[in-house]
Amino acid sequence: MADNRYWRLDDHPRGNDFAAAFSLQHEPVPAPGPGQVLIRNHWLSMDAGTRMWITPRTDGYQPPLPLGSKMMGLCLGEVAASRDSAFAEGDLVRCFGQWADYALVDPAASALTKVDADVGDVRQHLGALGLNALTAWAGLVEVAKVQPGETVLVSAAAGATGSLACQIARNLGCTVIGIAGGPEKCRYLIEELGLAQAIDYRNADVAAALAALPGGINAYFDNVGGPMLDAVLPNMAHYGRIALCGLVSTYDSDAPVPGPARFDQLLMRRLTITGFFLPDFLDRAGGYLPQLRAWLDTGKLAMRFEETHGLERALDAYAGMLTGRNIGKAIVRVHG
Ligand SMILES: NC(=O)c1ccc[n+]([C@@H]2O[C@H](COP(=O)([O-])OP(=O)(O)OC[C@H]3O[C@@H](n4cnc5c(N)ncnc54)[C@H](OP(=O)(O)O)[C@@H]3O)[C@@H](O)[C@H]2O)c1
Repeated sequence: MADNRYWRLDDHPRGNDFAAAFSLQHEPVPAPGPGQVLIRNHWLSMDAGTRMWITPRTDGYQPPLPLGSKMMGLCLGEVAASRDSAFAEGDLVRCFGQWADYALVDPAASALTKVDADVGDVRQHLGALGLNALTAWAGLVEVAKVQPGETVLVSAAAGATGSLACQIARNLGCTVIGIAGGPEKCRYLIEELGLAQAIDYRNADVAAALAALPGGINAYFDNVGGPMLDAVLPNMAHYGRIALCGLVSTYDSDAPVPGPARFDQLLMRRLTITGFFLPDFLDRAGGYLPQLRAWLDTGKLAMRFEETHGLERALDAYAGMLTGRNIGKAIVRVHG
């Protein structure tokens, strides 16, 4: 019988020590039950938000993954067997499934979606046409309501969600400034994504760099939270909007982390800060795709992939993404 390898969550990780928390297990390839679909995973998406699911915290946007479970995340692959008439063997699909050779899913619960194979590089369904892109669009357009000519700041700007937010804001006619870790990422933001400015937060004083901006920041697409948000708040323009997309600087904490020290600036500058979560937008997010696809096809939207080969190397890819080794989207090639 064919073998299915999968990553099992055995314990809550400490920091980025994932080897002590996960083990690679083996089982026979599962057979789909009524209504279920079996996916042969081609790529796994390494997403920062999943770090929260593997803490014991119960106050997140979804319950923690129980210890002993298969690790879950976004997958891109092909239907290997189906007992749902909407999906046929060979369909290219994206879903929330298991970190495994084969993901066994219930279509509705896993957001199983057929995706177009005719996009050049099908990995773009985890990139410029993927959930990070929909998140970037929702945050900029629906939450921050950015306008042409405004100054937009993006943190974790060279990562998957951030690099797409930078490009979308640029395409919408904004002046875009990115914050990222290290000179190589800053060069990428300026030279390849055409940003007006890039701030290397590992080597520069972010607050001082932002204070030098004329007019302040109209919209902040925040992926990071923590001390970086404190550096930004006093440098927002009056009536500025903050789309709070993520808090990657705090996801490895097993306890709540205190909010911004410069909370006062919300009053002083009449700011709005709005947390948002992509699943709340999914009913209409399909409407964002034609514009994203048009930009992809005309070279106005790109995704660089940081690809790791082999399911057995997924933990290294995951730690690499969480510690900023990736430029663009970190993915793991499983098959295909
Ligand atoms: N709200 C939603 O629905 C939604 C959906 C998707 C993603 N997100 C959020 O988007 C953010 C980015 O996620 P992603 O999956 O696209 O990952 P990513 O940006 O591709 O990778 C994570 C990046 O975070 C940066 N980072 C890690 N620790 C940091 C710290 N302490 N301070 C500053 N930067 C740090 C690293 O870049 P540097 O080298 O620059 O440090 C790293 O490359 C996350 O907060 C995630 O939760 C939210």
